[in-house]
Amino acid sequence: MRILVLGSGAREHAVILALRSEEVSHEIFAAPGNAGIARDAELVDLDPLDPVAVTEFAKEHAVDLVVIGPEAPLVAGVADAVRERGIPVFGPGKAAARLEGSKAFAKHVMDAAGVPTGRALHAASLDAVAEALDELGAPYVVKADGLASGKGVIVTPDREAALAHAAAYLPNGPVLVEEFLDGPEVSLFFLSDGDRVLPLSPAQDYKRLRDADEGPNTGGMGAYSPLPWLADRFGSEEAFVDLVSREVAEPVVRHLDAAGTPFVGLLYAGLVLTATGVKVIEFNARFGDPETQVVLPRLREPLSGLLLAAASGTLEDHARATFRDDAAVVVVLASEGYPERPVVGRPLRGLADAEAIEGVHIAHAATATDGADLVSTGGRVLGVVGTGADLEESRARAYRALELIELEGGQYRRDIAALQ
Ligand code: AMP
Ligand code: GLY
Repeated sequence: MRILVLGSGAREHAVILALRSEEVSHEIFAAPGNAGIARDAELVDLDPLDPVAVTEFAKEHAVDLVVIGPEAPLVAGVADAVRERGIPVFGPGKAAARLEGSKAFAKHVMDAAGVPTGRALHAASLDAVAEALDELGAPYVVKADGLASGKGVIVTPDREAALAHAAAYLPNGPVLVEEFLDGPEVSLFFLSDGDRVLPLSPAQDYKRLRDADEGPNTGGMGAYSPLPWLADRFGSEEAFVDLVSREVAEPVVRHLDAAGTPFVGLLYAGLVLTATGVKVIEFNARFGDPETQVVLPRLREPLSGLLLAAASGTLEDHARATFRDDAAVVVVLASEGYPERPVVGRPLRGLADAEAIEGVHIAHAATATDGADLVSTGGRVLGVVGTGADLEESRARAYRALELIELEGGQYRRDIAALQ
């Protein structure tokens, strides 16, 4: 197949690596990509946010499938434009992508579809925020309503800090004050063809910057899959996945279809396992980053076939996606100053030695070449992935690899997948 992948992060690199690992070889284009992606795909000079440019390129190059990695092109209507020209595209249209782009819309869909989630109140003024905080109680959760790369959220026991966060976002529009959902978080991905869903394997993401879940929220500092502890709570991973398919993914996809805005692409359910059941914290309309880096290496079926089936409405031909029993752990290497003010342009060294370790590969998140050097270009720089027979082995490999990589001021968590 000829496949165009839009995006430039470690998630897109992970998607491309999964496509590359198939027995059949594909011609893969990526826009804009990064220095790591350049080793595995042909980079094309194309604005991924420009629906016309993407469509023209796909037509001219007889692309069989467009895969949209990040949320921004979805919200910009790129999937709509490509689909209108009859090219299969993995990614929802603008209307369905509001599930991620607007937290208020997501809450509305969950209400209408009967999906379990926490209470949420809208507040358009600081007084209204204060009232909502008092109604829902501590710990306080305040969210900006829009795309903020996971950084528009504060969860805090400190009422003043919650108010200050709201004050910073209120000039952009109303904020959401949410009930605090207490329990472990799980990310579960569903491929959707607009009508049916096909679940992938659960993963857990680490959102806070520092060990022991301290520091600010980030886009995600690491992840692992599978989650062995799910079986203790639900009997098996399969039982958990079936429950979430039934109670969350299927009702949402049915609702969007009935509304005339079918969801074609990846439905990401961010879940909390509370004492009173599984509840949705958020939806995303695309693969999660960094969870994709640990889910896809475990996938047995060729990814291209599944994405094309979702994009062309034929998921019914695929019974289930199956996953290897072995484990994968990704640890994110971030720049100094991330997430507030990442320092970029610093050289990266030692990647070849790191990747020489058995079971280790690197998904590039923000890299470029500068002459003979590889340099950092953003906040999250690399996803160092360890795979192995179990989490312990995968984790040991990922951390051994990180010790060999040099990035001045680089920061990473030491407790990814350190399960008690
Ligand atoms: P979001 O951008 O909505 O995914 O929020 C980012 C992170 O903030 C989540 O992954 C949770 O760790 C935390 N968070 C968000 N909403 C809540 C909530 N209602 N209760 C507890 N934690 C939350
Ligand atoms: N890892 C969280 C996200 O992709 O939104």
